[in-house]
Amino acid sequence: MASWLAVQPSRTLRSVYKVKQPLNLWKQTVLCSAHTQTVQETSGKSFDEMPGPKGLPLLGTFLDYTKDLGEGVRSSQRMHEMQQQRVQQYGPIFREKIFGHQTVTISNPDDVEYLFRNEGKWPRRDPPFPLWEKYKEDRDQVRGVGFLNGEEWYRIRRILNMKMLRPKVAEGYAEPLNDVASDLVAQIKAIPGTDGIIPSLEDELFKWSLESVGTVLFETRFGSFSKSPSLEATNSQIIQIVFLFPAWIDKFYRFKSVQEFYDHMDIIHNFGDMCINKKMREIQGRLDKEDIQDEDAAEFLTFLISREDISFKEITSNLIELLFPAIETTSFTTLWTLYLLARNPDLQKQLHDEVTSVLKPGEHATPAALQKMPFLRGCVKETLRTSCS
Ligand code: HEM
Repeated sequence: MASWLAVQPSRTLRSVYKVKQPLNLWKQTVLCSAHTQTVQETSGKSFDEMPGPKGLPLLGTFLDYTKDLGEGVRSSQRMHEMQQQRVQQYGPIFREKIFGHQTVTISNPDDVEYLFRNEGKWPRRDPPFPLWEKYKEDRDQVRGVGFLNGEEWYRIRRILNMKMLRPKVAEGYAEPLNDVASDLVAQIKAIPGTDGIIPSLEDELFKWSLESVGTVLFETRFGSFSKSPSLEATNSQIIQIVFLFPAWIDKFYRFKSVQEFYDHMDIIHNFGDMCINKKMREIQGRLDKEDIQDEDAAEFLTFLISREDISFKEITSNLIELLFPAIETTSFTTLWTLYLLARNPDLQKQLHDEVTSVLKPGEHATPAALQKMPFLRGCVKETLRTSCS
């Protein structure tokens, strides 16, 4: 899998190209990305000599991503194939420009590793998606952890880390996550006349992922599985293509997809604000009864609201910037895992044997039970190694 990167020249890159200018980052959501920008004067070829498709004035290579491949499939949905073609044509390192976004693609895993190892203490990524930035300015909102830089990023990330990436803390999320998993299973069982085939597994996993992440971050269910899903549940999938739009176009003409992006973002932000207000009332109610909760025991949103070093505006932005990268990564990883297991029935049986040896029929998995399932962990890790999420 290739990675889309705005880079400090990698080991290979550095020896071959002399970087004359910092590169702008275009973060492509299907593929992984990184965020380092450092200019380094080295001997070698100039950046201008780096190979890559030429593209058109202003548009760059944008049109390559809008091609109709037939049967309702667009080339932007076949990014991995486009990447492979580009690598074959231009080599393991190439550059291209989409609108104003200069990107460098590195496809050699050693180079990607080198880049990540040299990222430095804090990320520097500039600029984020221009339309996202414009939306934030238009609505007077702040950047969240996904787009912040330097020390400001660290200030927020340090707070969020207290409730993330810590196994002990994650254990506390087991119960609500099991509830969501039960809803997914019930939903799949209820799909009529399936004959064992689930026609919309991708959609179902997307809902599961949204509900799972939503219930942890917002401490509220979105209602994706209900017969009439909430507005928020149906508006959480931002049209990805708008990320490529240069913001200046919006000054002259508002495209329908841009307006939809604004509408979706407004709905999610209002939902975030509503959750905060609701939680505030709950906390106030508890304080009135002198029912003080321990910071360690507090759930995600309650914990953030209780702190004085993060504003409400920052909380909403960060919840949203955690929500979006979480949904597709989790649902695609699960989809790929299921696909790979279906392709390897012997491994599927091995996994089934492991799970049924630990859990009784109908029993929910606990963090302790998951510890006894090393093969399950191995399956997910192998999926992440071999497939793009
Ligand atoms: C299988 C699931 C996931 C995969 C494969 C994945 C992958 C990634 C990758 C590759 C990055 C970029 C890292 C970097 O450039 O240094 C990233 C960043 C990020 N991910 Fe995930 N992710 C997953 C799940 C999640 C979840 C569940 C959440 C939130 C609850 C999340 C939130 C974020 C955030 C906020 C960032 C930016 C972090 C920062 O800049 O401080 N991701 N993820």
